[in-house]
Amino acid sequence: MRARTPRPRSMDPGRSAAADGSYFDRIVRGDAQEVLDRLPAASVHLAITSPPYNVRIPYRGYTDDLPPEAYLAWLREVWQSLYRVLVPGGRFVLNVAPTSIKEFRPIHHDLSRDLRELGYIMRTEIIWYKQTMGRRTAWGSWRSPSNPHIVPSWEYVLVFSKERWKLEGDRERVDIQAKEFETFSDGFWSIPPERRRSGHPAPFPEELIERLVKFYSYRANVVLDMFGGTGTVAAVARRLGRHYLHIDSSEEYCRLARERVGRTVPPADAPIPAPAEGWELPHAAEEAPGP
Ligand SMILES: C[S@@+](CC[C@H](N)C(=O)[O-])C[C@H]1O[C@@H](n2cnc3c(N)ncnc32)[C@H](O)[C@@H]1O
Repeated sequence: MRARTPRPRSMDPGRSAAADGSYFDRIVRGDAQEVLDRLPAASVHLAITSPPYNVRIPYRGYTDDLPPEAYLAWLREVWQSLYRVLVPGGRFVLNVAPTSIKEFRPIHHDLSRDLRELGYIMRTEIIWYKQTMGRRTAWGSWRSPSNPHIVPSWEYVLVFSKERWKLEGDRERVDIQAKEFETFSDGFWSIPPERRRSGHPAPFPEELIERLVKFYSYRANVVLDMFGGTGTVAAVARRLGRHYLHIDSSEEYCRLARERVGRTVPPADAPIPAPAEGWELPHAAEEAPGP
């Protein structure tokens, strides 16, 4: 987190650039909130993210150890900036893990309270069961009620909408199959964690993101991750024929994301481009004059 000066909330510098798509299909290195504040209003259909969890994970260039209230206050600002860029009916999917066993804090309750106070509609909560119990070591008081531990073998996937439940879109741009719809609409998702770490301490498994993208967006929609890490959301979005925007503060993670998204093959009839050059959004001077 960095110190920041207040910015006007109504800033909408890029309508014309958004119209030709130049804000999207990019890997942007920067601070999540700063970049969100430069995006056109009502331009993103689905945001999926997993912010730093504040549990001392050793990310490159970020200390994952803020006082709890400062952590929530920082994320509140990010959620507020996100609200502006979502289209009406646009979705926000927030993945968050339970905190550590001994310092358990119901952070998912704090986050869902904050998001609802900001005006988001809470659609649901999906339990991502990670099937990690085979590797468990922390029993607490073994076979005794004196102090047994519940081991978090799951994560929360909290789902919100802006302004309304329904997202407008063309029927021809639906790609979810009947069997997939049946499976995904059961809110208990058994998906193993990602084992290929690829230089990042906490990447998403692609299957989790594939389900969310197909269930909650149409082809050709814009899908965003503002704490994008190694680019799982952007890579899956491109593979499934959606436009993407990846933001992360670490140049190293952005580089990994760029290679990964560049290698991803989009559908033949939805040729979503490889990431544009550079780590930045286009500057105002490069934009075509607005309408
Ligand atoms: C939980 S990880 C996301 C991992 C990602 N889901 C993946 O599949 O690789 C959180 C990410 O947030 C990034 N980050 C930390 N502070 C940030 C900030 N202020 N703005 C943007 N990204 C930030 C970290 O570099 C880290 O990659």
